[in-house]
Amino acid sequence: MRVLSGVQPSGKVHLGNYFGALAQFIAFQDSADEALYFIADYHALTTVRDGAALRQGSLDVALDYLALGLDPAKAMLFRQSDIPEIPALAWLLSTVTPMGLLERGHSYKDKVARGISADAGLFTYPVLMAADILLYGADVVPVGRDQKQHLEFARDIATKFNVAFQPGYDPQDPTGAASGVPGILKLPDPHTLEATAVVPGLDGQKMSKSYGNTIELFTPDKALKKRFMSIQTDSTPVEAPKPAPPHTLLSFLELLCEADEFSEHQRSWAEGGMGYGHYKLRLVERFHELFGEARARRAELERDPDFVIDVLREGAAKARAIAAPIWEAVVEATGVAGPGPETLKG
Ligand code: ADP
Ligand code: TRP
Repeated sequence: MRVLSGVQPSGKVHLGNYFGALAQFIAFQDSADEALYFIADYHALTTVRDGAALRQGSLDVALDYLALGLDPAKAMLFRQSDIPEIPALAWLLSTVTPMGLLERGHSYKDKVARGISADAGLFTYPVLMAADILLYGADVVPVGRDQKQHLEFARDIATKFNVAFQPGYDPQDPTGAASGVPGILKLPDPHTLEATAVVPGLDGQKMSKSYGNTIELFTPDKALKKRFMSIQTDSTPVEAPKPAPPHTLLSFLELLCEADEFSEHQRSWAEGGMGYGHYKLRLVERFHELFGEARARRAELERDPDFVIDVLREGAAKARAIAAPIWEAVVEATGVAGPGPETLKG
């Protein structure tokens, strides 16, 4: 099983990203045959217009992943723009992608409604994402719910390509089990999206950088403590039972504590005897227990940018090697030239 996912280099990683995505990605490095993770810097250009910021943002994502346990010996970590076949394949795919499919895109409509400019790149974002998935023949693509439609588009676009360029291809039989003619491009599994619990933010809404309610994993100690202490509480006295759940403080305790400890907090919450400050300080402590090591590792990696650059370079070389036979088949079927196999091997 080949697992692949991409992450945009925008913003600092927070608890929601970690529990909703990163932790699961990293876990695949032990269960998948191959795990490919890339930094979607071409995609980020639909919103970022500052070269230095994009370059730094890409390195920051790499630092986050490495600090949080991504092991370059087990998983490939690379930048999307280090793979020259990606924009080439995106173009080829765009020639078989119906306008009507892209016009149905929720993400495009949402982004335009939020004021992002309606550029062709934003409109064809799903085609580039399909190229990301199809170039490597990914089986499983773990993504959040907001990306589910993009995954369906990748399947549809792969089907269009196979029908157009693979004589004898039967879209009802994409693996070619009956016909003996598998598609040039493999359809990613549509049923692999994990329904992950939504991590709440400091204000009780979904944690999201757009709501300014996040706890960032690598924020300095003092600022971190301030964030936890800022969780809104009322004036219930220490001895009194606390208000019935749900409560943001309890949600965080549940997220960060082991089950036994959380039961104890639930009990004292209902009975009284503990002040809100006690729970908040425990959250800070627990956060450091969980992420202290990653925070220290990140600080260390920051002092060694060459190491990070090497990891990305090696990741890209391995990913291109995986892509090579698929790209060669695409070149053969479409009749275009490069970037050719020579560069792939180099
Ligand atoms: P943000 O909402 O802060 O902009 P992104 O959209 O960049 O976050 O999300 C990146 C990944 O993290 C996605 O896979 C998304 O599903 C996951 N994610 C983000 N916020 C949460 C959350 N509050 N709970 C669970 N998963 C989340
Ligand atoms: N669009 C994805 C996001 O914003 C990032 C992404 C780009 C991606 N290409 C991908 C995710 C390919 C999975 C597979 O989260």
